[in-house]
Amino acid sequence: MALKTIEELCDELSERRKSASLGGGQEAINKQKSKDKGTARERIDWLLDPGTFVEVDEFVTHRCTNFDLDSRKPLGDGVVTGWGEIDGRKVFIYSQDFTVFGGSIGERHAEKICKILDMAMESGCPVIGINDSGGARIQEGVDSLNGYGKIFKRNTLASGVIPQISVIMGPTAGGAVYSPALTDYIFMVDKTSIMHITGPAVIKAVTGETITSEELGGAKTHNTKSGVAHFEAKDEQECFEQIRKILSYLPSNNLEDAPFRPTNDNVERADDSLRQVVPVNTNKEYDVHDVLTKIFDDAEFTEVQAGFAKNIVIGYGRIGGKTVGVVANNPDEMAGCLDIDASDKASRFVRHCDAFNIPIVTFVDVPGYLPGVNQEQGGIIRKGAKLLYAYSEATVPLITVIMRKAYGGAYLAMSSKALGADFVFSWPQAEIAVMGAEGAASIVFKKEIENSEDPSATRLEKIDEYRKTFSNPYVAAERGFVDRVILPEETRHAIYEALSGIENKRQSRPSKKHGVIPH
Ligand code: HXC
Repeated sequence: MALKTIEELCDELSERRKSASLGGGQEAINKQKSKDKGTARERIDWLLDPGTFVEVDEFVTHRCTNFDLDSRKPLGDGVVTGWGEIDGRKVFIYSQDFTVFGGSIGERHAEKICKILDMAMESGCPVIGINDSGGARIQEGVDSLNGYGKIFKRNTLASGVIPQISVIMGPTAGGAVYSPALTDYIFMVDKTSIMHITGPAVIKAVTGETITSEELGGAKTHNTKSGVAHFEAKDEQECFEQIRKILSYLPSNNLEDAPFRPTNDNVERADDSLRQVVPVNTNKEYDVHDVLTKIFDDAEFTEVQAGFAKNIVIGYGRIGGKTVGVVANNPDEMAGCLDIDASDKASRFVRHCDAFNIPIVTFVDVPGYLPGVNQEQGGIIRKGAKLLYAYSEATVPLITVIMRKAYGGAYLAMSSKALGADFVFSWPQAEIAVMGAEGAASIVFKKEIENSEDPSATRLEKIDEYRKTFSNPYVAAERGFVDRVILPEETRHAIYEALSGIENKRQSRPSKKHGVIPH
């Protein structure tokens, strides 16, 4: 047989490249676009800095012969993988191609993803997975399941080493949901993302319940009810913007510091309006976001899980250009109490920040853990303990600002001195006590109130006496549980000074394989 010429060989390569770039073919691409969805390659181009994508494993194909599958061997096997840059920083990426067997995961498809996860780990760079898949490739049977298992293992080993971002841009069904669930953050797009273990038809057959796919596992559901997802976008473009923003706060791996972003916002800026944002009357609500935006650089606070457990707010801000993680009670929702969902949400975020060397600033205005049968029987004891555990084991700088109420166990759980806070600041209106003055006086002075000639006057007297004794920041400050009592407008500068003072903080923990966190 005559040797092919170099031109023929190059043409053949070009043909293969063209075929790979078309995935499941033009007709399937048109169908994908008609659903307001980008193709796997478009999504990579939209997310990464222009021209930075480098592809690997473009020509990989499956080796399955079941059910005639060997008659269809699309190049790339339904997932586009490689690396590129976001804001000039290297990231690894994979993007499932729904036009090829519905983006389903077979043996080789999984191997491609594993290769990218391994490269990201070895290079110490974030990894982003764009999910758009019908789940396990049914024709490949147990080979497909084994592929999933290998991905789960890698997600787990990479946890706390490199940031892992999951983007849901189509269906993610069955066990496929567990790779995203093992990563740091899940981003979903309204109307086109679905995540569930079993779909509406199976649920109807098993439990008789009727529900739509969207209600069961859409972006709204997972961002408000289940807490599975962390970000919701109105479309794919907004989702990519959100991802770029979140990555701007994160280091590339657990051995690096978060990127520094220069700012013209003076660290000594004092915002006098902070005196008015938090009412002195502890029964009055306010939105803690109004505090946060007055404190961080350029009024920028980027919230995580904004729609779930709104009684606690978590997210990122910067002070003097440096990233901090923020945890704040929000008196606007359920008086800012700690309940099961809030404890889950905050404790995971504290561990995330601790894993990635991000100092944590905690803003406290908390009446306590939420009382109730549902809470007790739902496990508030173990969930609440998670928050104590997360702060206690954290070794990153911990700064606490007690703005108003700090009562009981919740005072301790919200990054108290006893759990290891490096600096605790308190505003003058803070009340640090076992409980609020009204409840406390009614219990401690019960007999005196009942036996007095004018019980209601005595009660008010005793409330006042209790408030003077304990409901202030000075008792805690005398004992060193509060390091400084500051004016509200001094908060930004105080946090900056504290962070500068302990930026080289190093703490070690007893040697052990790992602790056993309450769940
Ligand atoms: C093989 C699949 C597939 C799968 C879809 N396709 N899912 N091929 N394995 N899991 C193929 C279809 O046959 C079709 O091929 C193409 O993808 C597009 O699918 P459509 O059904 O036409 O698309 P659409 O109407 O948009 O519906 C999408 C869908 C639906 C909702 C994802 O396809 C679906 O329900 N698929 C099955 C989902 C599922 O039950 N997966 C298994 C979950 S269990 P053609 O050739 O016609 O274009 C699981 C276990 C994992 O994943 C365990 C890990 C631990």
